[in-house]
Amino acid sequence: MAKQEDQFKKVISHAKEYGYVFQSSEIYDGLSAVYDYAQNGVELKKNIRDYWWKAMVQMHENIVGIDASILMHPNTWKASGHVDAFTDPLIDNKDSKKRYRADVLVEDYCAKIEAKIDKEVAKAQKRFGDSFNKDEFLATNGRVLGYQEKINTILSRLGKSLEKEDLADVKLLIEELAIADPLTGSKNWTDVKQFNLMFGTKLGASAESTMDLYLRPETAQGIFVNFLNVQKTGRMKIPFGIAQTGKAFRNEIVARQFIFRMREFEQMELQFFVKPGTQKEWYNTWKETRLKWHLSLGMGAENYRFHDHEKLAHYADSAADIEFKFPFGFKELEGIHSRTDFDLKAHEDFSGKKLQYFDHQENKSYTPYVVETSIGLDRMFLAVFSNSLQEETLENGTTRTVLKLPAVLAPVKAAILPLVKKDGLPEVAREIMHDLQWDFNVSYDEKDAVGRRYRRQDANGTPFCITVDHDTLQDNMVTIRHRDTMEQKRVPISALKNIIEQEVAVKNWLQKM
Ligand code: GAP
Repeated sequence: MAKQEDQFKKVISHAKEYGYVFQSSEIYDGLSAVYDYAQNGVELKKNIRDYWWKAMVQMHENIVGIDASILMHPNTWKASGHVDAFTDPLIDNKDSKKRYRADVLVEDYCAKIEAKIDKEVAKAQKRFGDSFNKDEFLATNGRVLGYQEKINTILSRLGKSLEKEDLADVKLLIEELAIADPLTGSKNWTDVKQFNLMFGTKLGASAESTMDLYLRPETAQGIFVNFLNVQKTGRMKIPFGIAQTGKAFRNEIVARQFIFRMREFEQMELQFFVKPGTQKEWYNTWKETRLKWHLSLGMGAENYRFHDHEKLAHYADSAADIEFKFPFGFKELEGIHSRTDFDLKAHEDFSGKKLQYFDHQENKSYTPYVVETSIGLDRMFLAVFSNSLQEETLENGTTRTVLKLPAVLAPVKAAILPLVKKDGLPEVAREIMHDLQWDFNVSYDEKDAVGRRYRRQDANGTPFCITVDHDTLQDNMVTIRHRDTMEQKRVPISALKNIIEQEVAVKNWLQKM
């Protein structure tokens, strides 16, 4: 646990030191759970968004994108159920006066049991060496099975109690498990209460004409209210999808863990409209497709797992999370939800406008069912960033910090370094930079010895360093160094574009899907 916390602290400080993520309004001591993306962060975030957009929108002839507004008519949120049901179960500690999400307290308790399982696995791995079979061990070891059963029993009870809105039982569960306030150790809890997560705001200048609005808590509703506009103007035929990326806002109570849970964050969502009765099939297809998208980035299949929901949201008939192994354990990265016809029907009821699809083949109208894929861009950023940050011990015994970002996502693809700041080398280096700039985001770095510059670029996640030396002036060749292997090769300047392209092209990565 302490090791995990250390690793997470390193992630946060590296993100700041290398210009990826800053605390919002830091000079005023910051705003809790609100963050700004800095010069490198904004590029990484954009590359993740583009990678998603290419795979989800541009590579499908039956999926289009929109960009709906953040402010929507207030009836949207009555129809969607958010006014009544977008709540978290909260509990206060009477001694510390701290407020917690009751379900998170229980989940954290289970995460501690899970850490014990990991410990057993590590111990057995050490004991049995190469002959160790992890799956067999997990399926047969008595102690591990006991831990797993305990987790299943607790989570199943939590799920059922939340579904039945039996908040008294959630409190009882916390008491029975003897869960204490993580900060003070006190077990003096209030009852569990529901708390709405939407941020309210007002539209209009005069007191009589103001309208109470909400900042959208999900981007999905902007798609549902535009369903018919897009279907008609795009002449879309079922099955088809509408995607969008954009900001969402939630007044999260447990807002910790850096950019994992923020109050202002960005989502990348697809609503895929299907014929009623085919939703299960599409739900499975999208689960599989989304996992493949993640795996295409090469961050290790063992770091992902599905978690099928026991407690379903008010709109869903099936739902699963793709969980990722963050520095603080496996947590939700993306949700795949079979949303039935709940949203379109609800907007039809509230707006009085027909939101149906006329199926020419069947010669009838129906309300489509919807399968949704929804991923937090910031959470994906954290997954990529934390997974990439590594400390390596080199052959000569020294260590290096390297940010092994998938090259397709790296903010800066290549740094061009003149060996020295004189003899015409900076001019040639800048010429190379200006030429490569048309195709890639590249940078120029002439400060410090070249070894230090390599380390700086490693820590920054730059896949290539291109060094211009005195020989370059004669032979038009440069040294290209690879971040991960540290291998150096002498290549013609004219070959650079192809070499970089090969490793960073979205096509080459997405084709691994
Ligand atoms: N439209 C469905 C929906 O919003 P959700 O499970 O509430 O479903 C989807 O959110 C995804 O949005 C999550 O899997 C997560 O990646 C991201 N997300 C949700 N709340 C977040 C928060 N407070 N901070 C960062 N990301 C968040």
